[in-house]
Amino acid sequence: MSQEKGAKKGEERPELAPPRGTNDLLPPESWRWSFVTRLAMDTFAGAGYAPVDTPAFEHTEIFERGVGAASEVVGKQMYTFTDRGGRSLTLRPELTAPVMRAVLAGNLHRSRLPVKLAYAGPMFRQERPQRGRHRQFFQVGIEAIGSAEPAVDAEVIEVGASFLEAAGVRASLLLNSIGHVDPACRTGYLKLLVEYLEARRDELAAADVERIAANPLRTFDSKETKTREVMQGAPLISDHLCDACATHLESVLAILDELGVAFEVEPRLVRGLDYYTRTAFEFTSPDLGAQDAVGGGGRYDGLAAALGGDELPGIGFALGIDRILLAAGDQGDETAGGTLDAYVVAIGDAARRAALGLATRLRRAGLAVDLDLMGRSVRGQMRDAARSRARSAVILGDAEIAAQAATVRDLGTGEERSVALGDLEGRLLP
Ligand code: HAM
Repeated sequence: MSQEKGAKKGEERPELAPPRGTNDLLPPESWRWSFVTRLAMDTFAGAGYAPVDTPAFEHTEIFERGVGAASEVVGKQMYTFTDRGGRSLTLRPELTAPVMRAVLAGNLHRSRLPVKLAYAGPMFRQERPQRGRHRQFFQVGIEAIGSAEPAVDAEVIEVGASFLEAAGVRASLLLNSIGHVDPACRTGYLKLLVEYLEARRDELAAADVERIAANPLRTFDSKETKTREVMQGAPLISDHLCDACATHLESVLAILDELGVAFEVEPRLVRGLDYYTRTAFEFTSPDLGAQDAVGGGGRYDGLAAALGGDELPGIGFALGIDRILLAAGDQGDETAGGTLDAYVVAIGDAARRAALGLATRLRRAGLAVDLDLMGRSVRGQMRDAARSRARSAVILGDAEIAAQAATVRDLGTGEERSVALGDLEGRLLP
């Protein structure tokens, strides 16, 4: 999973390296990945979020209309191609717009509201690869569609925070409201911001000057020192929210307080996707480098209409699995799976013939069991058992078969005991 490992493999056999910015997900790292993904989907299901999946590619206009043509993701990072039928398709750079499309297409919003959905899957963005930033990366996330209640914002945020804690990630929650499109709210504020930026055009970094017209809010995200200094004095959206948006934010903060979720209001937090309205938030981790956002999300009350559907408010978040694994370090390794309950060692022809049958019987009883499939010697099998990380070796020889008992060796302590073949299921459990 990590860039470092991928690079090493590629250096040895460049012709077999995966495309730039992508990684092969190999064991043992893949165990941690699958553990965290499962933990996420279980946590989300525990709060009533049902699994959803959509195609890996969509009609390009779903992202142009949904995420916004002015956003960097749509303007600069999409993998867009024309298929053999002449249609413009795009590998999904994110899942909020596709999930909303699927909800509208499937009429889910006409049944029980809010529609609560959870996902895990690969996304694609052609960014400059670095630690924690890849061209194919995995996200887990949730979307709650159909309610504008502040309680939904709080629930969504709480579920994200709980999952990160369970995954062993130290994260801070930054929160803001970016208002809604209306002259009395964000639209009015943007006028002030543009005036402020225009007056300081010369003080901004060159790359940020073009943002004034295209996407002025994003100047807050600039990494350029010159621009950051200018932004220190910029008018803030929080001082120009309409009453309804300000009240909404206050309610969200009050509920989060009640739930005991720690947060910091960050009036300069803006998000990179254009569909956001009102609540916007990010989870950042001190254990990551430059790419310190583990995840982010927010409200998108105008997205359904932008896709041509009914007015339908929504809120959600997505977290990057790659960054979660980097931030969690070795935490959770013990529980990350990949340990076998037993490894069956066969001595002699009769035992070899019986070994797969025994392994199958134990597997059917719910145990994780492996065995030699390479015709190894007994010593070779014992070595392989140790490498397999199995807790016990179940040793089966002619004597054992005759006695209808196996020798069970604890591969941690080396202790051995004889266990009747019929009792193995119960005795191999930890
Ligand atoms: P996003 O902030 O673009 O939001 O991405 C969410 C998370 O995905 C990031 O914080 C990061 O952990 C991970 N991520 C993004 N790009 C990369 C990359 N190139 N390499 C590795 N990880 C990456 C969204 O995608 C929204 N759809 C979230 C959302 C859901 N908003 C509402 N609902």
